[in-house]
Amino acid sequence: MIRSKIAGIGRYVPEQVVTNHDLTKLMDTSDEWIQERTGIKERRYAKKHEETTTTMGTRAAEIAIERAGIQKEDVDFIIFATLSPDYYFPGCGVLLQRELGITKTEIGALDIRNQCSGFIYGLSIADQFIKTGIYKNILLVGSEMHSMGLEFSTKGRNVTVIFGDGAGAVVLQPTEKEDQGILTTHLHSDGTHAEQLAMISPGSHGGYHLGKENFGFPDVEYGELFIYPNLIDNNSYYPNMDGQLVFKNAVQKFPEVINEALQKTGLQASDIDMLVPHQANLRISQFIQGKLGLRDDQVWNNIQKYGNTTAASIPIALCEAWEAGKIKEGDLVCLAAFGSGFTWGSALIRW
Ligand code: COA
Repeated sequence: MIRSKIAGIGRYVPEQVVTNHDLTKLMDTSDEWIQERTGIKERRYAKKHEETTTTMGTRAAEIAIERAGIQKEDVDFIIFATLSPDYYFPGCGVLLQRELGITKTEIGALDIRNQCSGFIYGLSIADQFIKTGIYKNILLVGSEMHSMGLEFSTKGRNVTVIFGDGAGAVVLQPTEKEDQGILTTHLHSDGTHAEQLAMISPGSHGGYHLGKENFGFPDVEYGELFIYPNLIDNNSYYPNMDGQLVFKNAVQKFPEVINEALQKTGLQASDIDMLVPHQANLRISQFIQGKLGLRDDQVWNNIQKYGNTTAASIPIALCEAWEAGKIKEGDLVCLAAFGSGFTWGSALIRW
């Protein structure tokens, strides 16, 4: 039976460090509040005009490709996960292809929009393509440049302090080794609370999902629905989040979807050598750890340094854990995510 394995992994975080103290100059917040509620001490911001979601993804991809021992031209499919793309369209997949200098046109590039679960959704898609023998070298990238569109004021502080920029990438290849590779992936969604962790404009909604009266959406002409007259005034082009609702759902869905993967494979939580949760909030990770009864050395957290980098958070953390020698051949690695949508998912990998 063919399985998919992670053959190479890379990460890139921009140089510029933004501390909690730096943010206190822009909004009413404090290092103490941020650390106590989220565990975050600092995050990175990309260099504006020089770095983009695609360029950061490309840096991470180059490392993953080199570590996989292949050439760029060997990549036969690209999957790019982000909620902060360079352009509204086309997506970052083709921009990354161009940036990498892959000139062959036999390949495909797929963009996915699953926010914090983007990497796990991408991993699951790649896994299906590899298992069915369609592709041999899939490049999966998660990259975010949140700093481009956060609300740097007291009004936006609950969201702004959480997010950071960065990228991670993996190359997936087939393996026929008995006990190696992706053992299982599980994907879920529930659109009930779509607007509770969202950036709703620009878009085609025209006020529809929110109820026109409540939202005060202007009666505009075609062509003005996307960028409508009071878009700037009502700030709907900034991400908004009902933090407590997200927290409540996350602490329920994370353990649920991890247990689903364990049950499917007949494994126990104690079999996990390394859990790499999406870095949403250190308190959420600690809750999952407690719920599964895992030791500190069985969980990788780096939100303290990078904040929440959404689709990039799992590959950055996974890469860091691997670089630190904490993931070795034969180890059972568990990935899990929850986020906007809501969408959530898990994966179990025998490294
Ligand atoms: N600095 C200082 N005060 C802040 C603040 C900030 N950055 N952000 C919010 N506050 C204030 C609020 O205005 C509120 O003040 P009030 O009591 O005077 O009204 C108070 O802190 C409590 O706000 P609340 O939203 O209830 O805080 P919380 O304990 O729920 O913590 C989060 C907020 C965002 C840290 C928390 O809800 C969370 O982490 N949720 C999950 C978020 C997440 O994981 N998102 C990513 C999903 S992938």
